[in-house]
Amino acid sequence: MYTVILVLITVSGIHGWSDTKVRRFRDDFLFGVATSAYQVEGAWDVDDKGENIWDRFLHEHPGVIADGRNGDVACDSYHNYQRDVEMLRELGVDHYRFSISWSRILPTGFSNEINEKGIEYYDSLIDELIKYNIEPMVTLFHFDLPQILQDLGGWANPLSVEWFEDYAKIVFEKFGHKVKYWITMNQPNSICVDGYGGIEFAPAVGFSGVADYLCIKNVLLAHAKAYRLYQTEYKTKYKGSVGISLSLNWADSVDNKTENVESTDLFREFSIGLYMNPIWSKEGDFPAVVKKRVLQKSIEQGYRKSRLPELSSEEIKLLKGSADFLGANHYTTYFVKKAEKRLPSPSIDDDIGVELSQPSDWKTSQSSWLRSAPYGLYKMSLHINKVYDYPAVFITEHGWSTTKGLKDSSRVKNLRNYFNALLLAIEDGTDVKGYTAWSLMDNVEWIAGTSERFGLYEVNFESKEKTRKARLSALVYKRLIEQRIVEEDWKPDNMNISITKRKKYAKVEL
Ligand code: NOJ
Repeated sequence: MYTVILVLITVSGIHGWSDTKVRRFRDDFLFGVATSAYQVEGAWDVDDKGENIWDRFLHEHPGVIADGRNGDVACDSYHNYQRDVEMLRELGVDHYRFSISWSRILPTGFSNEINEKGIEYYDSLIDELIKYNIEPMVTLFHFDLPQILQDLGGWANPLSVEWFEDYAKIVFEKFGHKVKYWITMNQPNSICVDGYGGIEFAPAVGFSGVADYLCIKNVLLAHAKAYRLYQTEYKTKYKGSVGISLSLNWADSVDNKTENVESTDLFREFSIGLYMNPIWSKEGDFPAVVKKRVLQKSIEQGYRKSRLPELSSEEIKLLKGSADFLGANHYTTYFVKKAEKRLPSPSIDDDIGVELSQPSDWKTSQSSWLRSAPYGLYKMSLHINKVYDYPAVFITEHGWSTTKGLKDSSRVKNLRNYFNALLLAIEDGTDVKGYTAWSLMDNVEWIAGTSERFGLYEVNFESKEKTRKARLSALVYKRLIEQRIVEEDWKPDNMNISITKRKKYAKVEL
């Protein structure tokens, strides 16, 4: 049965479903949308906000931004949050995932100075959400470290674990009574592999194979400390849930050759296991194969110890089980092949030793890395169930990029195909509590600026008000939330979207 389903999905997942059964999302399945502070807020130096690493990086290197547009103003959500909530009401979503800008509420990075104007902003946004029965899902860290902490080494400094815990404490103190869903970190692999290993993502340290591993250890520990803090000081009082969002794209071997199949297993351990194993596996710690591989390479390269720092037994204990749910950010799938050429070393790429590709017949988005492969969501879900024993999952991001324009039929198609895959994954036992579309609206896609548009709403960045307009996909998503089924042929009569009464919000324990 298992293999039959897999084969059917592999074939039909890309080209559309062949079976006719109507699958339905449960009434208590939560639907939402997401954004992050740097990408939408703007007001980068307004009301005493401190500078963060993305402010600094894009101010110092404007040339790296595809269309030159940085996050100084972005969607100006700092001033437009009421319109944002109005859009959420138009969509009829259950939750809104947004992030808090650390340097907006703690301009020095430390808890000695609290910026009350920053606190007021998030308080107003949260109150506006609650007023309309929309549950806030708050990310504590979505890539924007206070610059001052970066000057002290950022996530490569082991003290960052304490800095984050202090920051988390302030946030829990201020907003804990209103927020039930918390996400500590967004995509540790982007923070560390891109930001500390690479040079195209702030803070652009560019020391792969060393700085990225230091960062991964500290980011995971910081997450675990914040989780434990919530457990001991706030859980009984506020009964909220705390998770972490990981980038969980899928990877398949390019063919059946043993060397490529083995390389794919290894790639999964480096891209999924490195982050999941410490929290969700029975034994805890980084995956044994990853530890072995990096140690062996490090010694060959003349290092005295592994470039991947060890976790002590207390740290392993701290991390194990430190999440109420797994936040899954899933966008695409890659094919993996054992690398034929020598890769620069030391580097995480060289440690893994693979080449990635995507078949040219998979539909392309506006982002070079993002092609549509819905079956990958299904396979990723089953992999997680098998290896990590059916964790509670919340899809905290999934989306598609286009150019400007309201008729985004490629996003609609992608959305429907992935929903079909998700419904199958749920049918086959994945414990998915909810889905969050990336993104509510077009925003600053890091160094792609606004050249890659991820929004269900289009934003006119030329206008002073940063006017937002619903795309076709917004109407389709709204309809899906109402009907709870995927209707392949449904089309709206016109492009108007208005607030409709929605079913009472279902309280869901994560
Ligand atoms: C994941 C990141 O969390 C988000 O910031 C980004 O905009 C989307 N992926 C799309 O690339």
